[in-house]
Amino acid sequence: MSVPPTPAAPQGAGLAECVIAWQRQHGRHTLPWQQTRDPYRVWLSEIMLQQTQVSTVLDYYARFLTRFPDVQALAAAPLDDVLALWSGLGYYSRARNLHRCAQAVVAQHGGRFPDSAAGLATLPGIGRSTAAAIAAFCHGERVAILDGNVKRVLTRVLGFDGDLAEARHEKQLWALAESLLPQTGIETYTQGLMDLGATVCTTRQPRCDACPLTARCAAKTQGRPQAYPVKTRKLRRRAWAHALLWLTQGDRVWLVQRPPRGVWAGLWTLPQADEAAAWLEWAASAGAKAQVGPSFVHVLTHADWTLTPVRVALADDAPAPAALEGRWFARDDALALGLPAPIRRLIS
Ligand code: ADE
Repeated sequence: MSVPPTPAAPQGAGLAECVIAWQRQHGRHTLPWQQTRDPYRVWLSEIMLQQTQVSTVLDYYARFLTRFPDVQALAAAPLDDVLALWSGLGYYSRARNLHRCAQAVVAQHGGRFPDSAAGLATLPGIGRSTAAAIAAFCHGERVAILDGNVKRVLTRVLGFDGDLAEARHEKQLWALAESLLPQTGIETYTQGLMDLGATVCTTRQPRCDACPLTARCAAKTQGRPQAYPVKTRKLRRRAWAHALLWLTQGDRVWLVQRPPRGVWAGLWTLPQADEAAAWLEWAASAGAKAQVGPSFVHVLTHADWTLTPVRVALADDAPAPAALEGRWFARDDALALGLPAPIRRLIS
């Protein structure tokens, strides 16, 4: 892959060597996905690590590999099983894409991930930066990554104040990232940028005293690391509110599967209505007592979602619920399903 001749800012000279030396001494070396060049394992880790911290991913990663040791096993599994194992990691479109990607690798690539970043980026759920990370780690391909953490590191060091809400600035930053690549040691450099972003050049309280780039860092010189990266277009957050019917009968809980699109797509959850009153009426018609609340707020990327459980415990001899979508699950079976984290907490 050829690297465009974009001249890096003066801050760029020798940057890669600095990052590599720092990574060797202070970076992370014992993470489970660093012990392999198997693209399946590296890919799985990179998808899990999107929007999720290493400490959370570790257990999920181990469980996934036990249940799905290779891409064939993952491709052959029912989506429900994948969602169940993903349950609690959030951002469930990642799990659906993971499954689709495994199936594409098996169906279109004979069970082998493409070797190049460009080939990897054609697969579901693998964006440009993830493709580059996999190709660098598994094959030593000299390509740039630019995930959220790395954008923060590079915009600060370079003093890059273009608004990343605009595609042309994002493109410029990609070109700069490419111009900074080392001639050798791409694996260590790539991991070093990730480690710096995660452990030193953090969003709120960067530890500039521990940073190998501090002497050359434009943002540090300006005394305002938090001013970077610049991104003006803020997500407009919305406020949602719904009431959940928490219906049990003995050891059983009533669950309904969410539609295949939208929030919590494909996961099992409690029946939902706009108002608690709907469930109070339903309980009255079933001759059962209902208890409302307490409400809790579940934070999504684009909304704060206030959920109010309405607790209804049916008598053992009560008939099956009428006019209610869903079905009974024994509690243990319910907990083995793909459940959104707050629903799992509520019923367990
Ligand atoms: N975040 C994204 N990829 C990572 C990796 N390979 N190691 C640690 N954190 C990461």
